[in-house]
Amino acid sequence: MSTTPNPPASSAQTGATPAPSCKVSASPHDALPSPAGKKPAPPCTLVIFGAGGDLTKRLLMPALYNLAVDGLLDDGMKIVGVNHGERETSQWVDDLHTALQQFAADKASTFHAGKLDDNAWNWVAQRLEYMAGEFETDDTFAKLKQKLDRQPGGNVIFYLAVGARFFKPISERLGKAGLLKESDDGKGGFRRLVIEKPFGTDLASARDLNAHILQYASESQIYRIDHFLGKDTVQSILAVRFANALFEPIWRREYIDSVQITAAETIGVEGRGRFYEQTGAFRDMVPNHLFQLLGMVAMEPPNSFDAEAVRDKKADLFDAIQPLTPEDVVFGQYEKGPAGIGYREEPDVAVDSATETYAAARVFVENWRWAGVPFYLRTGKRLAARRTEISVQLKPVPFRLFRDTPVDALTPNVLTLRIDPAHGTSFDFNVKTPGPVMQIGAVKSSFDYNDFFAEHANVGYETLLYDCMLGDETLFQRADSIETSWRAVDDVLHPKGGGAVAVHGYAAGSEGPAEADALLARDGHAWRPLQQAAPRSKA
Ligand code: BG6
Repeated sequence: MSTTPNPPASSAQTGATPAPSCKVSASPHDALPSPAGKKPAPPCTLVIFGAGGDLTKRLLMPALYNLAVDGLLDDGMKIVGVNHGERETSQWVDDLHTALQQFAADKASTFHAGKLDDNAWNWVAQRLEYMAGEFETDDTFAKLKQKLDRQPGGNVIFYLAVGARFFKPISERLGKAGLLKESDDGKGGFRRLVIEKPFGTDLASARDLNAHILQYASESQIYRIDHFLGKDTVQSILAVRFANALFEPIWRREYIDSVQITAAETIGVEGRGRFYEQTGAFRDMVPNHLFQLLGMVAMEPPNSFDAEAVRDKKADLFDAIQPLTPEDVVFGQYEKGPAGIGYREEPDVAVDSATETYAAARVFVENWRWAGVPFYLRTGKRLAARRTEISVQLKPVPFRLFRDTPVDALTPNVLTLRIDPAHGTSFDFNVKTPGPVMQIGAVKSSFDYNDFFAEHANVGYETLLYDCMLGDETLFQRADSIETSWRAVDDVLHPKGGGAVAVHGYAAGSEGPAEADALLARDGHAWRPLQQAAPRSKA
């Protein structure tokens, strides 16, 4: 994770001035300068298993394109796409080009590239090569070995952009073919393995997967991705906490009443019914994305931004999570409502499905800083609004100073860190209202990234890919933290005495099931509404 100041957006992304034209064969470094203080990653070959999949098309290629625009890829870079099914490289390149053009033009996509920059795209396109191969056939790996032996440099990243069932067979075959072997003198280049989520489906399967992969690659070669950590707004949580003297002194149980972490979506399962039926909202989001947000908010300050320093503090935090029980969670499933059909009517979903599309949890962190402070987590599909954010609510002031306003009638101070789709922070606090009477009024102070920084194209994978090429593991999951996170939720996934957590209905487009409100009400708390009232304007 780079700690240099935010680089200016390139002209190609902002559309401010046209990028200087140059020959197709030129490096993007000739066309567009690298952002201040950043150097191109070392040369490497990126082998993408799942070259024909959605992740490659929607996220990896746009991210590589953005890195090329920023001049952060080396001229010696190569990208080999492996997928089953014969096709020419030119056909793969054309398909990717069409997809990128569509995303670039789509204002609703996260690409924000406007129009594709031809120089940057051509630079990427020239480095693409397609290789047909089944993921579970030795022949594929023999072919790959031949190809890689011919590439100079020796640095290789294997990116498993494939379904989780292929994680084991691919890493095993890479290992057996000698493709993960780094030379003892370190001169033969690095070999790294990038693994997507879901990393296991519970503690036992995560342990098993770790043990399996660690037979073929060392921990320092394995880069387990949680794409939430690729978001600038998530990385900024540490900046807000540790680059400002204001927050850290109050960032503890003495001042903080409770924390809410929300990842609410308006979309349904979007054609992923088969995957979702086996996974559910809890496994899909809680022990990974939401715990990562919890880690960023609650971890102790590291001594430095070294990968191990940061990951050690996060590991301590996950270790301090009090194991959740079924009483700490509420599950829900969307039913037909104002926002559309019910989950059971979705394609590839059983008509009597008991899979949850909503999960809320009350989590305690048992350490000196956080003992007794509830962290309320919630996530769900087809909710009233798309909103990923963290709200830190402070305790009330100690006594009633304002005659007409009892302490419990004051609006609590809340610091909200907005992750998506709004990017920024807001702070709710109290002031005196204008006029002769001493009355208290609640106000909000907000910061939005767009008001301060030029828009910078970012699909969320740029930093992760760049860091992997640099060998910076700060933003990747270590085996121990993955297992500790699954351990904290194991009693929810496999309740003692059998059975399963009850699933309550909620209308598509609503705030979620009423039972989730009751989870907080028993502590005297309430969820922050997903559909928040528009700020009060002057009369
Ligand atoms: C994925 C989940 O990991 O994260 C999806 O599998 C979810 O179900 C997605 O929609 C949310 O990510 P983001 O970045 O769109 O908030």
